[in-house]
Amino acid sequence: SMKVGIVGWRGMVGSVLMQRLREEGDFNNIDPVFFTTSQHGLPAPDVGQGASVLQDAGNLEALAACDVILTCQGGDYTAEVYQPLRDTGWNGYWIDAASSLRMADDSVIVLDPVNRKNIDDAIDAGVKTFVGGNCTVSLMLLGLHGLFKEGLVEWASPMTYQAASGAGARNMRELISQMGAVHSAAKVLLDDPASAILELDRTVADYIRSEDYPCDQFGVPLAGSLIPWIDKPMASGQSKEEWKAQVEANKILGVDGQPIPIDGLCVRVGAMRSHSQAITLKLKKDVSVDTIGQMIASANDWVQFVPNDRQFSMEKLTPAAVTGTMNIPVGRIRKLTMGSEFISAFTVGDQLLWGAAEPLRRMLAILKG
Ligand code: HSE
Repeated sequence: SMKVGIVGWRGMVGSVLMQRLREEGDFNNIDPVFFTTSQHGLPAPDVGQGASVLQDAGNLEALAACDVILTCQGGDYTAEVYQPLRDTGWNGYWIDAASSLRMADDSVIVLDPVNRKNIDDAIDAGVKTFVGGNCTVSLMLLGLHGLFKEGLVEWASPMTYQAASGAGARNMRELISQMGAVHSAAKVLLDDPASAILELDRTVADYIRSEDYPCDQFGVPLAGSLIPWIDKPMASGQSKEEWKAQVEANKILGVDGQPIPIDGLCVRVGAMRSHSQAITLKLKKDVSVDTIGQMIASANDWVQFVPNDRQFSMEKLTPAAVTGTMNIPVGRIRKLTMGSEFISAFTVGDQLLWGAAEPLRRMLAILKG
């Protein structure tokens, strides 16, 4: 059976991936080999195939003995190991969560509900490197799959509301610490129903701006505020997160020639692990809201179409509703006043599941056949 080396399985994305692999029985009919960057020789997780020991993730020979390497270890690891491993002549499949190889000519970005045909064609053509997309990009394409599939999108402008998980596990912890610290600072006033609201507000504001507010990871306040910049700056004025939208989405969609313009602002908000985005779209023609809804709802098994209704939107179209699930609710579909070809949409997805681990798990399943 296929020998699958798993690297970075202990981290946050890796742990979610492990959970999904177990849930779906994906360890059946494969021969998993667990790698570690720091603890080789210690016991590996038992996934129903008995005891084994952790292998050294820096050992090219041990890696080259695998048919498939599945890594959530991060971009630095990929940068260090990928090319030297290929240079040994290893011609196995490399499945990666990190962004390093995404835009390489000889890699495919995997999001099989949207680009299964590209994946199959690439396998037939001998492509061996398959990379998960950026979370916001994958979540947008799953949500608006129906419109892209119909070739209806002239351009799209996603404005994001991204969760702490995208910045890492420590950042998730820090968000909750921030929430608790704000509450502690305000507690006396909050507990006194007669306290003046503006005094409560000033106490909170002073605390958020104070040295005591815990923000080592984010560098600036998130709880009680937001951060309108994600990742490094690019010469274009975009953040790197914003730059990824157009280049990755067009690569996933297999657009030849003129790319579909996809650009907007990426913002960090105080959600734990579900990214949201408000998307303005210009369609190539005037299509009724009902038809748009049908296209979106029927595109794949994970989209949940949410009618443009107050209560449904408040209950179903939120990080609180989506977190920990595979659901991709899409709602707030309506025509904008700019004209009949301009529509709005709002969509939410779990950043660790469809945003990171799930496309990789499914790529492994495709290789298993
Ligand atoms: N870069 C994303 C974020 C997560 O910071 O939310 C990874 O795709």
